[in-house]
Order: sequence, then C-alpha cells, then structure tokens
Amino acid sequence: MWRIVIFISAFSCSSQLVSGQMGSVRESEIVNQIKGTNQALVEIKELLKQQIKEIIFLKNTVMECEACGMRGDRPDPSWPVPSCLPNPCYPGVKCTETAGGIKCGLCPNGLFGNGTHCTDVDECVVDPCNPGVHCINTSPGFRCGPCPTGYTGPAVHGVGLSYATANKQVCRDVNECESSNNGGCVANSICSNTPGSFRCGPCKPGFTGDQRRGCQAERACGDRQSNPCHENAECITHRDGTIACSCAVGWAGNGYICGPDIDIDGFPDEKLQCPERTCQQDNCVTVPNSGQEDADSDGIGDACDEDADGDGIFNTEDNCVLVPNVNQRNVDQDDFGDSCDNCRLITNNDQRDTDGDGKGDACDDDIDGDGIRNILDNCEKVPNMDQRDRDGDNVGDACDSCPNVRNPDQLDIDNDLIGDPCDTNKDSDGDGHQDSRDNCPAIINSSQLDTDHDGLGDECDDDDDNDGIPDLLPPGPDNCRLIPNPLQEDSDGDGIGNICEHDFDNDTVIDTIDVCPENAEVTLTDFRAYQTVVLDPEGDAQIDPNWVVLNQGREIVQTMNSDPGLAVGYTAFNGVDFEGTFHVNTATDDDYAGFIFGYQDSSSFYVVMWKQVEQIYWQANPFRAVAEPGIQLKAVKSNTGPGENLRNALWHTGHTPDQVKLLWKDARNVGWKDKTSYRWFLQHRPQEGYIRVRFYEGPRMVADTGIIIDTTMRGGRLGVFCFSQENIIWANLRYRCNDTLPGDFDTYRAQQIKL
Ligand SMILES: *[C@@H]1O[C@H](CO)[C@@H](O)[C@H](O)[C@H]1NC(C)=O
Ligand SMILES: *[C@@H]1O[C@H](CO)[C@@H](O)[C@H](O)[C@H]1NC(C)=O
Ligand SMILES: *[C@@H]1O[C@H](CO)[C@@H](O)[C@H](O)[C@H]1NC(C)=O
Repeated sequence: MWRIVIFISAFSCSSQLVSGQMGSVRESEIVNQIKGTNQALVEIKELLKQQIKEIIFLKNTVMECEACGMRGDRPDPSWPVPSCLPNPCYPGVKCTETAGGIKCGLCPNGLFGNGTHCTDVDECVVDPCNPGVHCINTSPGFRCGPCPTGYTGPAVHGVGLSYATANKQVCRDVNECESSNNGGCVANSICSNTPGSFRCGPCKPGFTGDQRRGCQAERACGDRQSNPCHENAECITHRDGTIACSCAVGWAGNGYICGPDIDIDGFPDEKLQCPERTCQQDNCVTVPNSGQEDADSDGIGDACDEDADGDGIFNTEDNCVLVPNVNQRNVDQDDFGDSCDNCRLITNNDQRDTDGDGKGDACDDDIDGDGIRNILDNCEKVPNMDQRDRDGDNVGDACDSCPNVRNPDQLDIDNDLIGDPCDTNKDSDGDGHQDSRDNCPAIINSSQLDTDHDGLGDECDDDDDNDGIPDLLPPGPDNCRLIPNPLQEDSDGDGIGNICEHDFDNDTVIDTIDVCPENAEVTLTDFRAYQTVVLDPEGDAQIDPNWVVLNQGREIVQTMNSDPGLAVGYTAFNGVDFEGTFHVNTATDDDYAGFIFGYQDSSSFYVVMWKQVEQIYWQANPFRAVAEPGIQLKAVKSNTGPGENLRNALWHTGHTPDQVKLLWKDARNVGWKDKTSYRWFLQHRPQEGYIRVRFYEGPRMVADTGIIIDTTMRGGRLGVFCFSQENIIWANLRYRCNDTLPGDFDTYRAQQIKL
C-alpha cells in the first residue's frame, strides 16, 4: 500500500505545480499538464487493480497452504501428500512434485523470493527514467511516465533490474523553432530554442516590427549583399525609414542601375535601361552640365555645342549664344545682341534682372518689382512696400545694413552684410554673427534659425515652435519640434506627430529631398542668389570675375580671367556636407580655382584652392608670393581685408601672418588637369572644428585631407572661388545640413588623448 501513498502525494505535488504556474504558463502548457495528470491517474487505477488481485491471491494461497501443507517431511503421515494441484507456488512459478514433496521454481522476472513467496523488485531504484519523469514501479516491472513538455523520447517500460539498467529512458529536447510555424513565434522573428521550451525574440535582421504587430520585410539598406542598390551605388536611409539608392561618385543613373559618368555631372556617358531623367545619356559627355541645357534642342548640350542656338554662327562669334539671331543686330553695342539683350538701348553687360521680369535692372524703372518706382523707393533692389525706415537715413529697413543707425552710404568694408557703423565685429561664440545680432550670442549657431520668430534662436529656445510643449523636457519631448501641435496627435504611434510626419519643418519640401529637413529656410541647393566678393577691389591687375548661374542654382560658371573673387550663397550653415564637380573647361591658363566654406565676411572664411602649375605672383608687392600646384586648404583670417595683402597671401602656398593659415596641402603636389572633372566632398562640423575634404577623379579618390581640426570660423556660408583662371565650371553642386559627427572623429580623438 505504501506505493499508492507515494503516488498520491506525487500527484498532489504535481497539481500544485500546475496551479502555481497558472498565471504565467500558456494555455497549451496547462492542457499538457492536465493530460499528464490524467495519465498518472490511469496508471494509479491500474496499479490498484493489480494490488487488489495480488492481495486476493495471497489470501487464497495462505488459506490453501494451511489446508494442504507444503513440506515434504510430513510430521503426520495422515496428512495428504503435497501435490502441485492446486499450485502452491507463486503464480506463474513452475511447481515440481518430487518424492520429498513439492518444489517451486524461480520467481518470475521482476520478482524475487523462494518461489512460493515472490516479492516485486523495485526497478525504480536504478533510476531508469529521465530525470524529472515519474518512475512507476509495477508488479512486476516498471514504467516511465511521458517525457516532460518540450521533450520527446520513447515510452520506456519493462521488467527486471537488468532491463531497467540497460534501457534507461532518454528524453531529448524538442526544437520547437524547427516546426513549420516558427515555433509559434510570428513569421520572420527570431525563435530561440531553450531546454524544454523556446523563446520568441525580436524580428530577424531585415525585418521590422515585433511579436505583437508582426515582422514585415524592412525596406532597408542592410549590408552590401542584401541592399537593393547597384553595386556602384550608396544606400541611404531616410529619416522616415524609407530608403534611396544613389550612384556613387563617377557613376550616374537611378541608383538601381548606374553607368560610368566621366564628367561627374550626374548624367551617364551612355543611356541606361531605366526611365528616369538621370538614366538618359549625357548630352555633353565630357563637359559637366548638370542642367543639360540645350537651347537648340539638337541633342548636344549648350556646354559642348559649338553653335548652341543653331543659328549657324559659332558661339565665339555670336552675340546671342543661346538665342538664334542670324542678323546679329545690336543697337546699344554692348556684348548682347538685341534678340537676347534685356536692355536693348542701354549697355548692361551684367544683364542683371533683380525681379526677374525680363527687363534688366539698367532699364527697369522698378528694379525690385514692389510697385514703387526706383526714384521713390527707399530700397530699390529689395521689395518693401511698407517703406519702413526706422533710422530715417532714407534707406528702408528691408535693405538697411544698419536699420537703427543712420548710414546713408551703406558702407560694409568687410562684406558681412552689416554696415560699418553698427558692425562691432565682436562675436563671442565665433559663429560669424556679432553678439548684438546673434539670436544665441553664447551658442555657436551660424544658421541663426529662429523657427517661431520670437527673437530667440532655436538653439537657445526651449520651445522652438512656441506650442507650449518643450522641445526636450517633460511634458515633451515635442513630437513635432518645429510645427505647433499642442495636442501632439500621433495616430500611428511612431513618436513623430501627424503634422510633421513627412515634412518636419513645414517648408513644403518633403524630408526625403529637403537638404535641411530641420530648417524651414533651406530646402534645396540653390546659388541663384549670391553675393559677389571681390578680393582685390583696388588692384587693377585683372578684371573682376563674371559668374553665370545655371541649372536652377546648382551650377556656376566663371567665364573671365580675373582677379580673385568669390560667389557666396546667402545661406549660413552650422554643420554641412558640401559637394560639387569642378572642371576647368579650357587649356588656357593654369591658375587657381576652388570653393569656400565657413564664410563670415571677406576677411574670414575657409578656402580649398587648387593650382595647375607652380608660379610666382607677378606683383612682388607687398611681398613675394609663390604658388605651388597641389590642393590647399586655408583658413583666411585677414586683418586687412580685401586688397593686395590678402591677394598675395591667397596666392602664396604657405602661412602669411595675419592673413592666411595653410591647414593642409596635398603631398602629391600635382596640379589639376585641363578639361578634367573632379568631385570634392567636404564635411564641416564647426562645433568641434572638424574639417575633412576628399577629392575624386572619376570614381577614384585622389586626395584626402584626413581630419583637420580648426575652429577659426564656427560655421558660415558656402561659395566658389577663382583667381586668374577662366572657364571654370562648378557643376552638380549639393549641400546638406549635417551636424552628425563622422565616425572617424571618435577614433581621432581617442588617439589625440593617448598622445
Ligand atoms: C545650431 O548649431 C548646432 C551645432 O552646430 C546644431 O546642432 C543645430 O542643429 C543648430 N540648430 C539649428 C536650429 O540650426
Ligand atoms: C505649414 O505651412 C503652410 C504654408 O506652407 C501654412 O499654411 C500652415 O499653416 C503651416 N502649418 C502650421 C501648423 O504651421
Ligand atoms: C551626415 O553625416 C554623417 C556622418 O558623416 C553621415 O553618416 C550621414 O550619412 C550624413 N547625413 C546625410 C543626410 O547625408
């Protein structure tokens, strides 16, 4: 009977286990537990039956034995002779009648005793079952319970110690994750097998979501093998998670298909099998023309068409290069024939047309098109219908370089757009904005963005959009930092508010193409509006540069052999990536061309400049200047400003005290090649002073400044630079706001600390 007691207690113990886990185990596990319990009950029942049979049998045996006696040596011969009928031995044990009485054979397997009395052997003492599985001792024999949930193994049962020792039950772990339904985890998620169970983890690489929402294939860049882009393309992940492919430097196409692009202007040398515009063949294969302008639609781009307008007169002789005019009539005798002259009766070789109304400024009686005639307009070139003029100097506030200080002459000696009388040049944070005008005087913030126009720059404004939800602090962070949304509606729960989901700064240019997604004032690369800065205004060594802007502001051409000069865009940047294709489209001359960044005024900017051959400047005054070929990166901080000192200092390859600091020079010391396209890629992070420029010739990188740290200018404007070189093309210009520090900076800093 003791065995029964043990089983009942084992059962109650396992039932505790079930109820104890109720809260946490899953339904299927509970079902399994109950099944196990039922089986145990069945076994107990069977055992009981057997026990009862045994007891009845024993009782009968005892009774019979008293009646017949078993011993051969009968004390009383009158007692009956022992016989095997009825069998006095243990059931199943052979009974033999001998002269001396009867003899019982061996107890059956699994039992031990003298043949008359046999007792069950407990095979469970040799632990034939898997650890954790009940061993059920039967009479005779044993049986192992089923393997625990999550394990599988044979049903083991048998009789006898030797069998039990030789045939132990082994339960192997089931790998649920190998089942066709991913173990029950959502498809494409990670299922990890554990002993006896499994775990559902996050989505597999390349999939996004979770166990609750499911795992969808991610439109993601992944690694080289799994990304969908062409092998010569980069994969870019946009802020909304979508991806884009972009052909690498020296390649062009739609990103999925890319072909060689020898002049690096974004159009392939041969037509590609894709429909996008950037898959069409370049209409000037070797001359960069990122706008593909073609005045006469003859399939040959203006940049490489000897007769761009197809009027039969070569460009070099034609007074209207882009407008057919066989008669070449030119009433005012300027450089532009009547057919293309925006002032036919007045000489105006700059052809400037501020309001873009087709009438050149020289002959437009309302230059800015604000409806107020020039003679009455206190800002001739800036539309200001209100004519406000706080300081009464007859220069309207809209165009007054000192709106609060009378300065009718508007002098701005340092070309920083701040008039001299109110130009303090005191700029504590070095971001190019003097303290009195800096909307965050103590925080480096060259872009001066002030989204809510409250006079406090975003950089030092806790609530950029004034919607009452702080940018970062509770109850923020604001899920649309730049667009007022006091209710913070976010229906898809992705942490980005509905109102700024695809256009974070509400500048109507969607984030995927917005060059500054977090700055409503900068949307696309555009140099159509620029400031010309002449770096040697007095000297008459050469004429001033002539800039032509093409391709909606993404291409600049300088046509004249000129004094040093800059064309500077008006957008000021903090961190920026700036790239462009540079090409000297002539075999004439061998001088300087390049680009600038961090422009704050005409005495303060960075310049990357490249000369073709070594040369001593022909004006030895104020000092001898020697130009070497090879790319140079210079920090210009001039205490004289534009003039002969700065001119010679720029020409000179080296430091010039109080003018120019040479930060890096290409050790190869090779000049640019004629009619060859180079691409530059600049990363500037003024906060840390990080500067790095790479140069490519076709797809090959040919120069790399490495990491340069310089904090002379903490951000500023971008532009292009030339000095005595004509026919320079800066094509396919592209800038992007970017304050993310490149990954190599950490390594660099760690090395610096070690040194
Ligand atoms: C201000 O400058 C910092 C550092 O250069 C930059 O991280 C931040 O984005 C800038 N803020 C704005 C509003 O441009
Ligand atoms: C977003 O800009 C549009 C103009 O482009 C303006 O009408 C709208 O009010 C702006 N939305 C918010 C929330 O400021
Ligand atoms: C910004 O710069 C970082 C570091 O150099 C770079 O990884 C990232 O791609 C850049 N972002 C954009 C939009 O170009």
